[in-house]
Amino acid sequence: MSAPIKLILDLDTGIDDALALAYALGSPEVELAAVVCSYGNVTVDTATRNTLALLRLLGHPEVPVYRGADRALDAKAAFEPPAGVVRIHGENGLGGQELSGWCYAAPRNGVDYLAGALDAASEDLRYVPTGPLTNLALALRATSADASALPRATFMGGALTVPGNVTPCAEANIRNDPEAADAVLRSGLPTRMIGLDVTHQVVLTRAETACWRALGTPAGRFFADMTDHYIGIYETNNPHMGGCALHDPLAVAAAIDPSLVGCHAANLRVDLDGATRGRTVCDPDRLRDAQKNCEVALTVDAPRFLEGFLARVERALA
Ligand code: RIB
Ligand code: CA
Repeated sequence: MSAPIKLILDLDTGIDDALALAYALGSPEVELAAVVCSYGNVTVDTATRNTLALLRLLGHPEVPVYRGADRALDAKAAFEPPAGVVRIHGENGLGGQELSGWCYAAPRNGVDYLAGALDAASEDLRYVPTGPLTNLALALRATSADASALPRATFMGGALTVPGNVTPCAEANIRNDPEAADAVLRSGLPTRMIGLDVTHQVVLTRAETACWRALGTPAGRFFADMTDHYIGIYETNNPHMGGCALHDPLAVAAAIDPSLVGCHAANLRVDLDGATRGRTVCDPDRLRDAQKNCEVALTVDAPRFLEGFLARVERALA
């Protein structure tokens, strides 16, 4: 039997982050080494509390949870989610479903933990941020290692060939800290971008959440109710999609099994000014460089992903 894949998640724990967590815990080839928390869908404190409570609900209270950055690199104050985001993920980030029984985060700062983990990393480490890239940008500043020699980060964020979801140009995770994303994409770190180009192709419906409810477990009921809230938002905002996009779970899936997505190799940067702030775009200055740092996912085997998603999440909820 081959050695397990060691996974570090970096979550701004709202609804699809919770689904990504369940996906990871239901993946037999994965050992979840830690979760670092971030702001975005909620504050970093709420993300940390949600992660701890979800890990208990899913029967894995032993997984260490670290509190990461509370704001974007250039922000003066700690991040508070705007009203539109509160509506999507609910006041508590979990669609308003109450969860009790959380305990305490590990005392070490999430950025320090991440810098140490990347420095010490072996080939079997997969790091998957599904919120803003602030923790990663700060960890890269803190390590003396050559970024190009560090393990690949598979991040959920960005949009190369499709419009954004918070502005016509920008996707939410990148828009929450464009400077951090730009620093990461220029650092030489190998990355794989799982953006809206592919996450809008993988959709979950109420038929599947009904199966989770029918499991009859507390986790099954919780995840069904939480996800139905999210699907309800999509029914209002994006009725043509017929369900909710599985942004963050697809990033975890593509980190574990890159053959799920088809990628275009490119050197990206992020627009930092004006109306296009937060847009991910090919860097014209590095267009002819032989070395490309980012694999941008543009196609996805949606049926195969969805089949694996349902099997893995059901295993985590049973
Ligand atoms: O744009 C989608 C992303 O923004 C997802 O990661 C979602 O959880 C939010 O963070
Ligand atoms: Ca997220």
